[in-house]
Amino acid sequence: MDSSQPGVSDFVLVEEISDAAIVENLRVRFEQDVIYTFIGEVVVSLNPYKNLPIYDAEWVARYKGSNLYEHPPHIYSIAERAYRSLVTQARDQCVLITGESGAGKTEASKIILGYVAGMGDGVKIRDRLVSASPCLEAFGNAKTARNDNSSRFGKYMDLEFDFRGSPIGGKITTYLLEKSRVVNQSGNERSFHIFYQLLAGSSDDLLTRLSLSRTTTDFAYLTAQSPPDLDDAAHYQSVIKSFKDAGVSDSTVGAWLEIVAAVLHLGNVKFEGKTEAPASATAPATVEAGENADQPQQNGDAEKEKTAETVGIERSTVVNEEVLRRVGALLGLDAEKLAQVLTHRSVYDPAKKEKIVLPLGSQQAEKTRDALAKTLYGRLFDHIVSTLNQCISIGSEKGYNVIGVLDIYGFEVMEHNGFDQFLINYCNEKLQQVFVELTLKSEQEDYQKEGIEWTNISYFDNETICDLIDSKKSGFIALLDEESTFAGEPTAKTFLHKLDTNLVKHPHYESRSKQASGKRKSSSNLLTASATPSSTAAAPSKMLAHNEFMLRHYAGDVVYETDGFLDRNVDALWRDVVTTLGESGKSVVREMFPALTGVDGAPDGGDVASTSARTKRPETLATQFRSSMGNLIANLMSKNPHYIRCIKPNAEKAANKFDVELVEHQCRYLGLRENILVRRAGFCYRSAFPKFLNRYKLVGTHISVDPRGTWPTYTGTPREGVQNLLNSALVSGNAYQLGKTKVFIRHPDTILQLEKMRTERKEILATRIKAVWKGSKDRKSLAKEKKKVVKLQAYARRQLEAKRYQKMKASALTIQRHARGYRARKNYKGMKRTLPKYAVVPIQRAWRVHAGRKWLKNVAIVAKEAAEEWKSWESWPALKLKNGKVTRETVQLWARRIHAKRFQAKLTYEDKEKLHWKATAFEHFQKKATFRDVISKPFVLDHLGYTTDPVLKMKWATISPDPIISAITATKLHRHNPGKTAQRILILTATRLYALDPKSSVVKESPTLEEIVGISASLTADGIMILHCPGAEKGDIILRNDEHLIEFLSRLVIAVAARGKAPKVIVDNRLSASFAKGQSIILAFQTGPQLEQVTIKKASDAWHVAVPTSIQPAS
Ligand SMILES: Nc1ncnc2c1ncn2[C@@H]1O[C@H](COP(=O)(O)OP(=O)(O)OP(=O)(O)O)[C@@H](O)[C@H]1O
Ligand SMILES: [Mg+2]
Repeated sequence: MDSSQPGVSDFVLVEEISDAAIVENLRVRFEQDVIYTFIGEVVVSLNPYKNLPIYDAEWVARYKGSNLYEHPPHIYSIAERAYRSLVTQARDQCVLITGESGAGKTEASKIILGYVAGMGDGVKIRDRLVSASPCLEAFGNAKTARNDNSSRFGKYMDLEFDFRGSPIGGKITTYLLEKSRVVNQSGNERSFHIFYQLLAGSSDDLLTRLSLSRTTTDFAYLTAQSPPDLDDAAHYQSVIKSFKDAGVSDSTVGAWLEIVAAVLHLGNVKFEGKTEAPASATAPATVEAGENADQPQQNGDAEKEKTAETVGIERSTVVNEEVLRRVGALLGLDAEKLAQVLTHRSVYDPAKKEKIVLPLGSQQAEKTRDALAKTLYGRLFDHIVSTLNQCISIGSEKGYNVIGVLDIYGFEVMEHNGFDQFLINYCNEKLQQVFVELTLKSEQEDYQKEGIEWTNISYFDNETICDLIDSKKSGFIALLDEESTFAGEPTAKTFLHKLDTNLVKHPHYESRSKQASGKRKSSSNLLTASATPSSTAAAPSKMLAHNEFMLRHYAGDVVYETDGFLDRNVDALWRDVVTTLGESGKSVVREMFPALTGVDGAPDGGDVASTSARTKRPETLATQFRSSMGNLIANLMSKNPHYIRCIKPNAEKAANKFDVELVEHQCRYLGLRENILVRRAGFCYRSAFPKFLNRYKLVGTHISVDPRGTWPTYTGTPREGVQNLLNSALVSGNAYQLGKTKVFIRHPDTILQLEKMRTERKEILATRIKAVWKGSKDRKSLAKEKKKVVKLQAYARRQLEAKRYQKMKASALTIQRHARGYRARKNYKGMKRTLPKYAVVPIQRAWRVHAGRKWLKNVAIVAKEAAEEWKSWESWPALKLKNGKVTRETVQLWARRIHAKRFQAKLTYEDKEKLHWKATAFEHFQKKATFRDVISKPFVLDHLGYTTDPVLKMKWATISPDPIISAITATKLHRHNPGKTAQRILILTATRLYALDPKSSVVKESPTLEEIVGISASLTADGIMILHCPGAEKGDIILRNDEHLIEFLSRLVIAVAARGKAPKVIVDNRLSASFAKGQSIILAFQTGPQLEQVTIKKASDAWHVAVPTSIQPAS
């Protein structure tokens, strides 16, 4: 802790504990502008009423991440502690800021909000969260006698954080706005800031559009003059900016300002009353038949109604209609309709089951107008809150933990205290109860439960006051509700009487009748008996007035006036008015007044969101407030609390002024002395054994006296573990006590010391862990590298082995091959030797047949190719290139040529001859129908044996010395009569073609090969051939050989060509033959599927040769 600070920075350390000493310490510090002081974990804050340079970024940085007592007490100490607890313990936190009006709660809440919203990252949402507060202040704060910026509503704001501790959104809950301020302000007080700010700060344009003037006195609802020190114009600009920063659109803010203007104008609407003759003389009201039951108004109104009916009917009209029109225009309503609902009221008569429209007198019309103004403003405020909530909501995301900040209206005592003050003070009473409960009561109870040595410290428990107010059976609120909803004619007087009857015995209740009857009990035991929270508070000794009662609050006695309690509690706005506003042309107004369910004519519950059915009344305001307080307290109790106790140094709102009496009074009722006593005698810190052990177990390692160290885990009981680690940390026995389940640490220093040791130890351990981790990481990476190397080696070895194996395998195979070859050869030789003689010949023959077939197949293929491309054995035709490029076809051609060439190289001379023969057949006769059948058969030169048979050989030798090339038989057709035929033997030599008579072997014709200039054959499957011999005596020769035509003619073509000039070969179905003397005939060939053999019919023009589709060899 900082010893340079004045006084003592933690009250736990002051030498003497008395109220005077506490105040003195505060004063000493205050004079040095040190406004914060600790009481253990509680921060006491004094309002400096001046700006101190202790909230800048440097200060924020100083407290960020620090321990509570590391730096001088500050509001940031609390904010940091709440945030740290949220992050480290993952627990919801709340910060309770209490103190009377003007003590600095709102400022403190904003400082806290700014600090925690700035944690983590979340800049965008931070701006929105921080901007929401000034927006609400403009509409919900007002200048009062106690505070120039007094909160007239309670505010609880939850800040939601994600798991990393970054703010992600928030939610605002507000509590009962003091709406009565809209229509009525006492003394020097003002209405809500926004009215003044709008008039002072808005542009001329906007002002004209809203039909407003800048003078506040022009508006009946603004009674007080604005003090010059409140810069409303500047505030207006900053409020508009805050709305923008919070994410509210300009149009929405504009719509809200229209409603603000409408409220101001509404206050200026005046009514004029006129009393008519009594009810018996004239019809009092318009009667409308209605199904819905309705209930007439209660309380004072009912009283006046009755009077009006008996005395006469008072009607009222709007005096200044143009003002009403302005209101209508701003609210999106028809002015006449508005006038109707302000000056009339429909009431349901249960007896007649009718809805009756009653006229209202001028006073009642004014009352309705004021009720409308209050409700309008109240709902506008709610609308703003819900809009801001939409802007800061986290949407569907789920917040991890929250920090709730509570800033409620402070305890206040005014000159005239009414229903609003009662609720505000009740709220403060409840918060004080939370503080007492959590810091004084439960703490002491905890010591006893845990068996800690403890001398009880007495304190004032305000539970009794809370009971007085909110006890369900006969508490103040129950009585007020009973009276408010009483079907008779309740008045302020009857209400006070009821209070007197029921509460007279309660020491905290006082009234004139109680004073008079001398029943007042000594209040010496009360903290508030001898002092009042402010100079204006009523002295308890003073005689109370007839309409007053007094409650002795924890913070002082407050005299309340009963007038208005009943009306305000019901807070009625008539249903007609609500329905009319629900039909507004402006969407914002419609949203603020949703359609009502229930009955026409019934009063709307004001703040009640929904009206109940006809028999059930809406909840009264006090009951609603009581239950919302109940919820708030339950919510706060469920969170980890942190306290800021705000104290006001003087009532004049002045800087550097310390009113000892006033401060002492606050210290007393805030229970600071008791708080200090409990803290001092008690323990600043407590924790369950396992939790404590878990946090500080690192401390109990190196100097542990117990061989079972607490780090990393303790094996004994948690209690022993705690004892062990405290011994290890050398914490003195006086500094702590061990309870049954918890350890209690007396001084914050001990915790600081433990935290310090923990941090140091953490660093050592972190280094060690780091080293171990690094070692393990290195080992891991080494192992990984090693693994890689081993893998590589294994791979290389495998490769080498594989190569060696392949080599070995290849060698083995070679050896095996040689061995097998050797064995096969040996076997073969053996086989040959052993093979029987008769087997050799058939095997050889079969082999030759096989080889021959193979050869012929090849010959057929190659001959086809050769016929196309291979005109000569020696020379290749030039390759045709397409556009000078090598095409696919060219490549195929090359391939074929190479193939042919290779094949050619293997051929013998005879083979070549035969191949040439086949190729010639391909070239000339491939179109002939018999071609396919004959081409794959071997071509034979001598079909008759003239070259082999010795007899025929000798016969031939007598005819010609020329060697025979080819010999076949043929049928010769007569040149002029195809029916006349003769058999011939055709023998081809290198010079002539001989046609012999087969019987006599006489040469019938023997044209030289030079004479045969052409050869013709048909396309069809017949054996007719024409040898064109134009130079011969008889001309062309017509022959027929159905079997060997192609084979013979191809050989003839080769032989003729060998003589010098190749003959002209015609293969066609229309052929001609020329004979001597210029005669010629045409041979027309035709196929017929039905035919069995070739038939030739001679006609005048031609020979018609009919040929069957398949060949029939000539007989
Ligand atoms: N820490 C502070 N530094 C400077 N001025 C402060 C500080 N706290 C309070 N004030 C001044 O005191 C005024 C009143 O404070 P604040 O509005 O926070 O009181 P409150 O406790 O919220 O009162 P109420 O209950 O009426 O709302 C502020 O407007 C501001 O001028
Ligand atoms: Mg405030």
